Amino acid sequence: MASAILPLSSPSRPLRNDLKANWKRGTSNRTFLRKDYTKAKQSFTRTRMTLAVEVSRFNDITMAPPDPILGVSEAFKADTHEMKLNLGVGAYRTEDLQPYVLNVVKKAEKLMLERGENKEYLPIEGLAAFNKATAELLFGANNAVILQQRVATAQGLSGTGSLRLAAALIERYFPGSKVLISSPTWGNHKNIFNDARVPWSEYRYYDPKTVGLDFDGMISDIKAAPDGSFVLLHGCAHNPTGIDPTPGQWEKIADVIQEKKHIPFFDVAYQGFASGSLDADASSVRLFAARGMELLIAQSYSKNLGLYAERIGAINVVCSSSDVAERVKSQLKRLARPMYSNPPVHGARIVANVVGNSDLFDEWKEEMQMMAGRIKNVRKKLYDSLSAKDSSGKDWSFVLKQIGMFSFTGLNKAQSENMTNKWHVYMTKDGRISLAGLSSAKCEYLADAIIDSYHNVS
Ligand SMILES: Cc1ncc(COP(=O)(O)O)c(C=O)c1O
Repeated sequence: MASAILPLSSPSRPLRNDLKANWKRGTSNRTFLRKDYTKAKQSFTRTRMTLAVEVSRFNDITMAPPDPILGVSEAFKADTHEMKLNLGVGAYRTEDLQPYVLNVVKKAEKLMLERGENKEYLPIEGLAAFNKATAELLFGANNAVILQQRVATAQGLSGTGSLRLAAALIERYFPGSKVLISSPTWGNHKNIFNDARVPWSEYRYYDPKTVGLDFDGMISDIKAAPDGSFVLLHGCAHNPTGIDPTPGQWEKIADVIQEKKHIPFFDVAYQGFASGSLDADASSVRLFAARGMELLIAQSYSKNLGLYAERIGAINVVCSSSDVAERVKSQLKRLARPMYSNPPVHGARIVANVVGNSDLFDEWKEEMQMMAGRIKNVRKKLYDSLSAKDSSGKDWSFVLKQIGMFSFTGLNKAQSENMTNKWHVYMTKDGRISLAGLSSAKCEYLADAIIDSYHNVS
């Protein structure tokens, strides 16, 4: 507020000095007398007092709630308990629960430094070498969509920014079209479409009875949606449930989407991180592309290359011809220009170097397997601890069936709050835990916390 910075008792120093100087010199304005100085001072004081009580123009802005995912990390930092665990944000940690910078990233950065590359603006659509690498990683270099130049690729501000750019494209060129979102989904999806003013509705995905996929519910909701809707699908390692359709179920999902003339819209935030294989994790996207369908795919390198803060990802639009793809790309650029002008270069160069250098590429695959492997180990250890410690006979095998970074525990809001308040286990209130933030040493402690919350809190 103005009152916090403006003095109440006198004119500002420059004005005071001016007034005094004029008075002393008596030259600039002969009629400027002491009474004038006093009058000016009084009027200034009145103005200042008015400003002091004036209500802020931003007063109607209410306090925004903390982000349900990133807010968890803030609360975690403030906790001093030695057993505390941050299972909120989906970020990989080492066995010592420290952040991890991949060796291939360090090597790529060293190469970049040696080359002394400049910091000039990138084109609006991003780094050409990155765009080529990212599309090839997604589809495979020899995929027909690549060979026929049917993919419009634009570098985006990681997964979130790429989804946001696609949402802007939908809002502009498919006004009124709905995006169907899985229930539940990653916490930010709804925000992205809300802010882009794209209507959305949910399709059933999770069955609490089986802690598995509600496949029939999913199919019937996709069938019931207006023809030509966009269907948002998680390419692999569904967040938050960790439950993916089987290859046979993917085929049926593709059948219904084709029948209904819907447009599939994939969010691929975990390629390579789910199974440890880049190709296996892209198989859902490739299945749809192989049917000749037009589709959208947002990619992120936050998790698989650990480039969270570099904000590197892409939006790919597979079109029916190279001509359409060219036009779509031109419009993606048009949308990006007034939003952020052009994307950052550092992460794009890292990806292009890692994917474009066969030694680094192989090393990356090994590191990814190591990360995915560590998560699989703690998943198994958590399951073993839950089964050994819980004498109630409850079947915890769903923990083993889920894949990727997360486990959807089935704990409700009150139970999730008990995990935090009593056990210092920080997690989102939908019952999701990020196994990437768990160490083997803390699996038993976590199992105790889950068993207590599940059986003793309703
Ligand atoms: C399903 C899903 N999509 C997209 C993202 C986007 O992440 P980022 O913007 O860091 O790439 C995430 C991150 O957690 C995610 O889980």
